[in-house]
Amino acid sequence: MANTSDGYFRGKDLWAVILGGSSGFGLATAKRLAKSGLNILIGHKDKESTVETVIAPHFDEIKAAGVKLVTHNVNLFDDDGRGEVFESIQQNAGAGKVFLFMHSVAAGACKLLIEEKGPDFKGQAIKALAEQLKLAPDQLKQAINTAFHDRGADALFPLADSKIPYKETFLEQEDCEKTIYMMGYDYMLWGRELLKEGLLAPEARLVAMTSEGNEVAWRGYGAVSAAKTALEASCRSMALELAPYGMRSVIVQAGITDTPAGNGIPNFDLMKAQARVRNPFHRLTTPDDVAEAIHGLCLPGGRWINGTILRVDGGEAISGN
Ligand SMILES: NC(=O)c1ccc[n+]([C@@H]2O[C@H](COP(=O)([O-])OP(=O)(O)OC[C@H]3O[C@@H](n4cnc5c(N)ncnc54)[C@H](O)[C@@H]3O)[C@@H](O)[C@H]2O)c1
Repeated sequence: MANTSDGYFRGKDLWAVILGGSSGFGLATAKRLAKSGLNILIGHKDKESTVETVIAPHFDEIKAAGVKLVTHNVNLFDDDGRGEVFESIQQNAGAGKVFLFMHSVAAGACKLLIEEKGPDFKGQAIKALAEQLKLAPDQLKQAINTAFHDRGADALFPLADSKIPYKETFLEQEDCEKTIYMMGYDYMLWGRELLKEGLLAPEARLVAMTSEGNEVAWRGYGAVSAAKTALEASCRSMALELAPYGMRSVIVQAGITDTPAGNGIPNFDLMKAQARVRNPFHRLTTPDDVAEAIHGLCLPGGRWINGTILRVDGGEAISGN
């Protein structure tokens, strides 16, 4: 079904600046907003081979929407990379033209705090079941893993083994500092800088991404979890202090989504299965679900949404299943 709001921004010569716009939510949002007529400026960091084989066709799709596209493959956490992107925004978009700023960079350390310890519920369950079935526990384990990984038996997630193991090293102070900077308050620093330099358009939308790991603890997600709460606090401060300048700041909380960064989280295969079982719609969130919501935030109906966390997860976070 055609979306009647397609093209809302055509002819307005406004821009979306998306940090982390080569993949996942950032890329899907870039494509969606291009269809709506926003010019797109993307900062990302990917291997050249990935750019050529995977990312280039997506960038072509953005250009085919008839908007301008500027991309920078740089490390956004060193001064040169940040400087290059900032200057490019000044040169390409110019004063008062950035309508959407999105921070969707995934660059956190996913490591355990300490060695795992605790009751072996999984081992106990497999042993008891193997006895009932008169099988060797290893034989049963293999059957469970095959059914889970090869046959899509999602409900076996509590008994299956993940193919995404924990890292061998534990969380260090430097991991925490980098993660909280990159995925926490960096959004606030960019938002303020864009405002101070007069680059934001009237009623601009500033958006960043959080996850359910903001409130619940996932093993190996400690640093990112801390970053998400810093991000959400940053959003509230921006919502308050930038409102007199006309700006809106919103955090989008996506459900579990199959992306390269997601698949770097230990146990993410088990988390995806659990999400499919638990989500009221029994599917994962897609980058397009989130892109549609952010497009909606950019339309006039989004102008009174400020300083909040908007869940875009089909009800995953509230499901008690
Ligand atoms: N995937 C999920 O399940 C999920 C759920 C909720 C929230 N989130 C959040 O959404 C955001 C985006 O994640 P995603 O899943 O779309 O990831 P992704 O892997 O699809 O995209 C990550 C982007 O970050 C860019 N990037 C990484 N390091 C960079 C660096 N140093 N400099 C410049 N660019 C860099 C990559 O080039 C890419 O464009 C993250 O904040 C993540 O925590 C993800």
